Amino acid sequence: MKENIEPRKIVIAIDGYASCGKSTMAKELARNIGYIYIDSGAMYRAVTLYCLRHNLFEGERLLVDELQRRMDEIEVSFALNPATGRPETILNGENVEQDIRGMAVSQRVSIVAAIGFVRRKLVALQQALGREKGIVMDGRDIGTAVFPDAELKIFLTASPEVRARRRVDEMTAKGQDASYEEVLHNVKERDHIDETRAVDPLRRADDALLLDNSAMTIAEQNEWLMKQYRRVAGIRE
Ligand code: DC
Repeated sequence: MKENIEPRKIVIAIDGYASCGKSTMAKELARNIGYIYIDSGAMYRAVTLYCLRHNLFEGERLLVDELQRRMDEIEVSFALNPATGRPETILNGENVEQDIRGMAVSQRVSIVAAIGFVRRKLVALQQALGREKGIVMDGRDIGTAVFPDAELKIFLTASPEVRARRRVDEMTAKGQDASYEEVLHNVKERDHIDETRAVDPLRRADDALLLDNSAMTIAEQNEWLMKQYRRVAGIRE
């Protein structure tokens, strides 16, 4: 017999290392179950792009005080692309979805994401986006700091080499230049900064399910995630 009961709306937090397929998994799930998908990393990337555009980097050094003075000028939001049905990142009214994915931003985003006042602002925004539930959010601290009460938490991991190869393939497919060695170095460096930063470091929440997808296909991991969702939302197979 078919159930007419609406499944309960939940919050799904997907955390894990850089480039291990969090967003692929999160987007697909959100699409299948009609939830909103939010890429929290895109928000840190947008602030980094702002810093680059306003010359707040001197080489690798960030002018932190200057950024703090300008925080109120930085507005990050999302707009749904009707063609893809997916949200794209808006920085001060401009769609920056493409610009935030390049190497210049990737190389510096961990520096920006380690700053306490940046995190406070973006975490508050993320929490506001999740107030109504029915959301899938991916990042590094979603299950620990943003939504510690999320009903479903996943911690995703894969070997650095597998992740670098996937990132290179993704960039190549978009016509961007990518060197495997450079990307691998960037992946390892970001892991280190993300795990050792003082504010909300990357770590698995005690109640997060661990998934190593190094040897899984995208279809297998989507199926696994759907199963977890059904279980937690109380939907019978
Ligand atoms: O997932 P990504 O590669 O787009 O993330 C970009 C950077 O932002 C990454 O270095 C970690 C950081 N980040 C974070 O600190 N907290 C989040 N919730 C999401 C991303």
